[in-house]
Amino acid sequence: MRGEPAFGGFRLERHGEIDSTNTLLRAYAEGGEPEGLIVLAVAQARGRGRHGRSWNSPPGNLYASLLLRPQSSLAAAATLALVAGLSVAEALQEHVQPRQRVTLKWPNDLLLDGAKLAGILLEGADDGAGGCAWVVIGLGLNLARAPAGTPYPATSLAEGAGLALTPDEVLATWLPIFGRRLRQWRSRGFAGLRDAWLAQAQGLGSQARLRLGERLVHGRFAGLDADGALLLEGASGGTTRYAAGELFFA
Ligand code: BTN
Repeated sequence: MRGEPAFGGFRLERHGEIDSTNTLLRAYAEGGEPEGLIVLAVAQARGRGRHGRSWNSPPGNLYASLLLRPQSSLAAAATLALVAGLSVAEALQEHVQPRQRVTLKWPNDLLLDGAKLAGILLEGADDGAGGCAWVVIGLGLNLARAPAGTPYPATSLAEGAGLALTPDEVLATWLPIFGRRLRQWRSRGFAGLRDAWLAQAQGLGSQARLRLGERLVHGRFAGLDADGALLLEGASGGTTRYAAGELFFA
């Protein structure tokens, strides 16, 4: 079993620059590593984002991945990305000024006053019998600097909130909160956390666009269903659920 004891009962393995904390932890997962390990890196040479994008990973920001073996279906395990996002938002809300808002943009982004502060990349494998063998939850959080040239506004805790937090300080706040949210998820599923997630949601009730590959659909962001899927209400009042996609507001 790898790692040194860390906050919230998790284990932590520290690295300098590596290719990607998700890639390394996936290899550990395939090798049978028990759940609860976090891989933390100072920088990543090949950080990965969602939709096959790269994640710019210079020193100064937080790059961490966490291994779980949730003993659920793969679909249910995918909602752990929402649980992770919620717990990170709750942790960061303790650090920023009360007038500032850390919000959740479905499915996996965290925004600070509307600009992207962090992203989550969840990767998992099935156990060959309809269940989930493991999930790796990767968190990239802009502590010191935001990437330049993104197609969306981006920020960091330093730039957007005047905070100089270290990765360890963030882990100390986040992991106990994540541990509590995880226990709730294990007993009640995402349905038990949905209201808490929606209370931090960006754009709830607003008009939104959802990109599904080449297709764009429009509607009012009406909420999430019990599986964490997005509910968009059309002009005629009917609601459609979407399990994936990229969400934009006005
Ligand atoms: C996104 O596209 O918004 C998700 C970004 C996830 C980046 C993190 S950084 C730590 C972990 N390792 C990776 O290669 N990616 C995730």
